[in-house]
Amino acid sequence: MARPRVLSGIQPTADSFHLGNYLGAVRQWVTMQETHDAFYCVVDLHAITVPTEADALRRRSRVAAAQLFAAGLDPERSTVFVQSHVREHTELAWVLICLTGMGEAGRMTQFKDKSAKFGESAASVGLFTYPILQAADILLYQANLVPVGADQKQHLELTRDLGQRFNHRFGDTFTLPDPYILKEVEKITDLQDPTAKMSKSSSSPAGILDVLEQPGPLRKKVMRAVTDTGSEVLFDEENKPGISNLLRIQSALTGTPIPELVARYEGQGYGTFKKDVAEAVLETFAPIRERTEKLLADEKELDRMLAIGAERASAVARQTMEQVRERVGFLPKL
Ligand code: TYM
Repeated sequence: MARPRVLSGIQPTADSFHLGNYLGAVRQWVTMQETHDAFYCVVDLHAITVPTEADALRRRSRVAAAQLFAAGLDPERSTVFVQSHVREHTELAWVLICLTGMGEAGRMTQFKDKSAKFGESAASVGLFTYPILQAADILLYQANLVPVGADQKQHLELTRDLGQRFNHRFGDTFTLPDPYILKEVEKITDLQDPTAKMSKSSSSPAGILDVLEQPGPLRKKVMRAVTDTGSEVLFDEENKPGISNLLRIQSALTGTPIPELVARYEGQGYGTFKKDVAEAVLETFAPIRERTEKLLADEKELDRMLAIGAERASAVARQTMEQVRERVGFLPKL
């Protein structure tokens, strides 16, 4: 039997991934390539929904791809590609845009948050349609599962709704995907504001741990992470969100269950605990950083790997799109 298919994407909007991206998404991508037919894309079309400088976009797209390979994606087992290399993404997005209600798109909370930041009138129509392009990314590959963090739940619901609507109106065409969200790591929070998501766009530099950052600053940030009143290392999301976040991080990085960590640090205070969290972060990030640097030193090879990915992705995308064109009623070109 064919392996179930997995697809996910990440935006090239920063010079590094952060710990939330890694734990919430990328790490699962790596495990799933063993059991699934895996497609992962660097979503550069999504990146331009906010003002983006061309050279920065090119640089960040390569940095993103290099980090994916460095984190363990194997080009033999995973199809890693750049979204804009496969033209069908925008083509399917258009068809889906025409199936989406204005009100439906307007309810997307990420759009509301982001447009509030820019000011409603400064936000682009691209930002408004962002989740529909994401739906196209997923439906195009007939994905069964989509590994993401909790912030993507609503976009995945929309994806299912649009897939279902298309199937209903034009005949069975799309596989309806399920989100794959690991509860323990679905929302890694900001080190300075442990009730908010760690985020490329809204965290302060002190609140975010970048995969490509040097050990010195990383260690400092963990040691300076906001902790809560009291001095005991306890998991209590409500009263101790800072320590709970660090416990979640430590547990995910070392594979030690949280209750075991709590027992280990009993009576030791925050300092020792934070030092160990910092070490776990450094141990995970250092090899990824080193491999990323190596991959970036040979851009030609990296671009070649991405071209292979794009070719494999295109083969699937083309097939789906041919069906879509026919079902929607576009005249075949002879
Ligand atoms: P992006 O680039 O913002 O984030 C990439 C992945 O990282 C997850 N993530 C987190 N997980 C846990 N804790 C956090 N603090 C945290 N911050 C980010 C995100 O949930 C995401 O899985 N819309 C997507 C990109 C996308 C996509 C797709 C995803 C475009 N097309 C198709 C899946 C399928 C996004 O903004 O990711």
